Amino acid sequence: MSSIQVLDKEFVPFISKAQIAESIQKLAKEINQDFEGKKPLFLGVLNGSFMFASDLFKEITIDAEITFIKLASYIGTESSGNVLTTIGLDKDLEGRHLIIVEDIIDTGRTMTKFLQQLENDGLASISIATLLIKPEALAYNIQAKYVGFSIENKFVVGYGLDYDGYGRNIPEIYQIKE
Ligand code: IMP
Ligand code: MG
Repeated sequence: MSSIQVLDKEFVPFISKAQIAESIQKLAKEINQDFEGKKPLFLGVLNGSFMFASDLFKEITIDAEITFIKLASYIGTESSGNVLTTIGLDKDLEGRHLIIVEDIIDTGRTMTKFLQQLENDGLASISIATLLIKPEALAYNIQAKYVGFSIENKFVVGYGLDYDGYGRNIPEIYQIKE
């Protein structure tokens, strides 16, 4: 595999389709065990998590629901700072086991703000499943229970993740070339 161009930036191959698939199988297996009989509600955070949520949910064999929300806008290659309000959360969360599905946790700001909003919803439990996490960028205390890959603090695209809206359709993950 060689490098690719997305808009004005060059990216190099980073995580392959096979590695992603293997990681998702592992995560799903854990979730299937941990939430057996609990009828968890998966909550995909759009747009970035749509591919991960879809592939992960296909590996879920226990009774479970999935719904999606929209939260933050991310401009360019730097976190925009302001997290927008939650759009589309129409489920009653009272007593539910929620599994938030994210593409990537960068500073953790998005997740922190969102978790604050969920505080009074009477959830039975909240868990975070994220395909990627950048531990060096983390500025908030976020405990993600299900993590696909811990990666270095460099910008990535593909598999749902975008650079200014583009690159989401790339089936594997690419990292910015420096
Ligand atoms: P945080 O609030 O800083 O944790 O940023 C989280 C959000 O920023 C993610 O849900 C992504 O949408 C976006 N993001 C963070 N890092 C990257 C990246 O390397 N590539 C693409 N999007 C990213
Ligand atoms: Mg996102």
